[in-house]
This record gives sequence, structure tokens and C-alpha cells, in this order.
Amino acid sequence: MTLSTTTNGAQMSCEALTVLFDGACPLCRREVGVYQALKPAQPVAWLDVSKASVPLTLEDRARYLARFHVRREDGSLLSGAAAFVALWRVMPGWRWLARLAMLPGATPVLERLYRGFLRVRPGIQRLARACDTSHLPAGLVADLRSDHAGETGAVWIYRGMLCVTRDETVRKFARQHLDTELQHLQTMSALLPPLRRSWLLVAWRVAGFATGALPAVFGRRAVFATVAAVETFVVQHYAHQIEALTAQAGQAALRQVLVDCQRDEAAHRIEAQAHLAHPPGAFLAGWCTAVGRGSALAVTLARRV
Ligand SMILES: [Fe+2]
Ligand SMILES: [Fe+2]
Repeated sequence: MTLSTTTNGAQMSCEALTVLFDGACPLCRREVGVYQALKPAQPVAWLDVSKASVPLTLEDRARYLARFHVRREDGSLLSGAAAFVALWRVMPGWRWLARLAMLPGATPVLERLYRGFLRVRPGIQRLARACDTSHLPAGLVADLRSDHAGETGAVWIYRGMLCVTRDETVRKFARQHLDTELQHLQTMSALLPPLRRSWLLVAWRVAGFATGALPAVFGRRAVFATVAAVETFVVQHYAHQIEALTAQAGQAALRQVLVDCQRDEAAHRIEAQAHLAHPPGAFLAGWCTAVGRGSALAVTLARRV
């Protein structure tokens, strides 16, 4: 792609524009999304220069990713403040800003401000990426937060068990399950950016540790009954989300992730139940009920915070 460059914002025309933006940057994506929702006075094309499918030399791509650019119909290129002004001129609701920016001396001031912004942009981009959930269905972010919290708790359940028990059967069981839960946690961590995770992760670690360590004090029956109770709840928890995603188009990959996690949790439950020769007594059954209710309360909290 060959593009000529001009920095003379005063010579801008209101011809069709092509906006060159960094679609890999959540800040740029959000801003462009605001403009794309409007009906411009002139045709505007949108070119995501972060896409490898857009043919650009390495040098040009780096240049367009580093600063905001628009290309006018005659092929000339504007960047920085001049590019914004050109775009604002054709955007309903933004023309007043373009008129202000075109007052004598205003565009250079805007350009200075833009350069100042570029200096802090990497930090703001990191923050925005740590919050960005645009790749997820909006209605499922809270559920995924509870999944991430739950998998955190699950990891610490087995760590709690391993800290207390010397029973080799339980230790083998706990080590195997810990490996799976660490994989689940890794999967959830990849899906959910850091600033969208539960703010109560320390509490979920402590609660998980206690839920694993306490029954381990009482022996293997208590351990297996506890795991069966937790996994019964977790299988149901995933089932609701899988059902919700089944109705949504384009979410097959995310749905499959949850199906895979649910399949592992169901296997954990079956394995734990297989170790229980007979149903738990009244005390253990009461503990298992408390574990199920505690899990439900944790999900309610983790969905919110
Ligand atoms: Fe899990
Ligand atoms: Fe599990």
C-alpha cells in the first residue's frame, strides 16, 4: 500500500476518509467503535492496520500503529491531531470540536496534547488490556469471574489436603486433581483479564485451603465426601453457563472450554463417590450441605466482586 504524507491540517478537505487504526489496542478499538456507531457526512472506511492481512511494509505498519492516521480520498495522509480534526469534521456531534480545533493555533496545541498522550499510552494500554472483556459475551463476564474464583478455590482445596494428610491414597488423589485444577485455573486466567477477576481471591484461597485441610484432619471418607459435594455443585454451575452459551451464535469455542471443564469436574465427582463405600453419616452429610451452600454463596459474591 502506497500512501503519501501531509502534515498540513489546514488544507483538509471533506472528501471520503480512510481511518487507519490499531484494532489490537483496546483504547483505539473503543474510540473507533464510538465513531463507527455514527452516520458520517462523508463515506468513511475503517482499516485495522494491526491485521496481518492488511498489506503494509514493516516500516509503514509500525508508523500507523504508533500514531493515529487518516487517508484522504486523494491518497494524502494526515496523522495525529490533524487526522482527528479531519475525522471530527465529518462526524455528527463532533463537528463543533473540529471547528474549535481549526481556530488559529489550536491544532498545534492539540498535536502537543496528543504527543503527551502518546507518551503515557503504553501504560494506559496495559491497564485497558487488563480490563478488556470485549472478546467475551457481556452476560457471561460475571459467571467467568465466579469460574476463575472457583478454580482458584479448587486449587487451594487440594493444597490444603496435601498439607494435612499423610494417607497415600488421598495424597495421590489430591495430586492428580490438583494438576487438573491448575489447568482449569490457567484456562480461566487466559479468558479473564486480571482486573476483571474477583477482588476476593485471597479469601477464596483461604476458603479453599480450609475446605481441603479440615476434612483431611478427619480422614479419607471426609475428604472424598467433601470433594463429591463440591464437584456436584460445580458441575451444576457450569451446566447453567453451557446452556446459556448454547443459544448464542459464535460462542462454540468458549462453550467447549466450559464443557471440557465440566467433564473434568464430573469425573472428579464420580471418582470421589467411588471411594465412598456407603453414604456419609449425619455429621458428614451436614458438613457436605454446608460446603454446597458455601460454594453457592462464594459464587454469588464472586459474580459481584
Ligand atoms: Fe476445576
Ligand atoms: Fe474439580
